[in-house]
Amino acid sequence: MLKISLEKTSFVETKADLGIVFVVDKNLKHPWVMPAVLKEFGYEGEGIFFDQQHKILYVGIKSLNPEMPFDPEMLAEAGTQAIRYIKKMPFATAKIGIYGDKKMMESLFLGMLLGTYVFEQYKSKKSPPSSETLKEIFVANECFDGADCTLSPEDFDGAFNKALILAESMVLARDAINTPPEDATPLFMADLAQKIAKENQLKCFIGDEAFLKQEKMGAFLAVNRASAHPPRLIHLTYQPKKSRARIVLVGKGLTYDSGGLSLKPADYMVTMKADKSGGCAVLAIINALAKMEIQAEIHAIVGATENMIGGNAYKPDDVLFAREGKTIEVRNTDAEGRLVLVDCLSYAQDLKPDYLIDIATLTGACVVALGEYTSGIMGHNEALKTRFEDLALTSGELVAKLPFNRHLNKLIESKIADVSNVASSRYGGALTAGIFLGEFIRPEYKDKWLHIDIAGPAYVEKDWGIHTAGASGAGVRACVAFAQDVAKRG
Ligand code: BES
Ligand code: ZN
Ligand code: ZN
Repeated sequence: MLKISLEKTSFVETKADLGIVFVVDKNLKHPWVMPAVLKEFGYEGEGIFFDQQHKILYVGIKSLNPEMPFDPEMLAEAGTQAIRYIKKMPFATAKIGIYGDKKMMESLFLGMLLGTYVFEQYKSKKSPPSSETLKEIFVANECFDGADCTLSPEDFDGAFNKALILAESMVLARDAINTPPEDATPLFMADLAQKIAKENQLKCFIGDEAFLKQEKMGAFLAVNRASAHPPRLIHLTYQPKKSRARIVLVGKGLTYDSGGLSLKPADYMVTMKADKSGGCAVLAIINALAKMEIQAEIHAIVGATENMIGGNAYKPDDVLFAREGKTIEVRNTDAEGRLVLVDCLSYAQDLKPDYLIDIATLTGACVVALGEYTSGIMGHNEALKTRFEDLALTSGELVAKLPFNRHLNKLIESKIADVSNVASSRYGGALTAGIFLGEFIRPEYKDKWLHIDIAGPAYVEKDWGIHTAGASGAGVRACVAFAQDVAKRG
């Protein structure tokens, strides 16, 4: 990762190969800005401009929120853009100034750290190693707008360490999600979990097929049946000395979703290696929270399997026996995530959670509803949904609450089993999937449960914000922010 360090010097005094100036709302009235050059080249503060003569990179930022000089996420995005631009040039060091408070700087650091992200394990030709390109960013201790806003070394360390842990954890999730399905199998997920456990002294339990049978996880097992790769239930535990609450996270870990016998059309199958994004997110989240030594007990549970076809595949018309004791009529084998999740959620409830959150690339309908960049928040507890929404938004992730209603409940009724795995209407698919999960949540946990559908932002095939094309690490920042709040307030 890129090194970032705080200097005692002003921007002009700080020595570096180049300077980065973030121009907020086209405000070019600042001593660091060279107005003559900008005039000559017609740069008015929008987009990126590199002044070769003075070695200054200008990056324009538009403020979104009139209440705030500018949004932390806009600053993060500008940081990412700046690093991507500089990476292509032969400069080893760059300097920046201070923009806003500790939270703003944390955001900027995260954007900069993620600006170096590439996934090129499978490329024969790799980009130049960091020893040949940008190595270090110096933070001059001077505020951009001239106000008195220096950063104390403690605040710098706090902001930088949090950004570094988040960036490393998001990279961990991204790398795993981007890994092709023939390599990233359920066993790969289990190995990754074991590595995370070892590094952070977490308890690690890996359940194999025999364990799933013993636990009567008939829904999870059915999804796995036609796969050449055995399934795994992964359970990591972080247990601090002092804990305010127990948070249990459950992630959908479909290492490939072909749709099963209800086969996906060719174009829809591509990117389905990313159907393990929820599982990878929960591993990344527990990694981050353990490193932050958070005062809350965290459990990360992943249901890892493929959804494939074959003579022994589970079929539409089958009836499955889920761990919670309910029967499920299969009407579409492509609605497999909810089958794996209900058995994992059943296991999770035995842990007596104070908060139970599942994260999944569950429905295309959620992407239709909210677009590619926003996750859907569902559940039966309105206050909890709002709390999660607020914290997720301040973390920089885009989320929106989706409301269940009693009319939708009827759509998953089955004539021959307790519940059907798909709704009888094609409308409201994100919600009916959420309501299906809710059928397997015990009354005492209804108020403690949230379902986060990350189908949109988990994997986008173009660069956006602080993300490169491919896996984003969606869910990591939101859940880390939520857990931190729980550790503070219970
Ligand atoms: N993994 C998919 C959902 C998905 C779609 C994730 C697009 C990311 C991008 C899920 O297993 C699925 O196929 N869901 C079906 C449900 C349907 C059969 C009721 C869907 O969304 O079409
Ligand atoms: Zn599916
Ligand atoms: Zn799926």
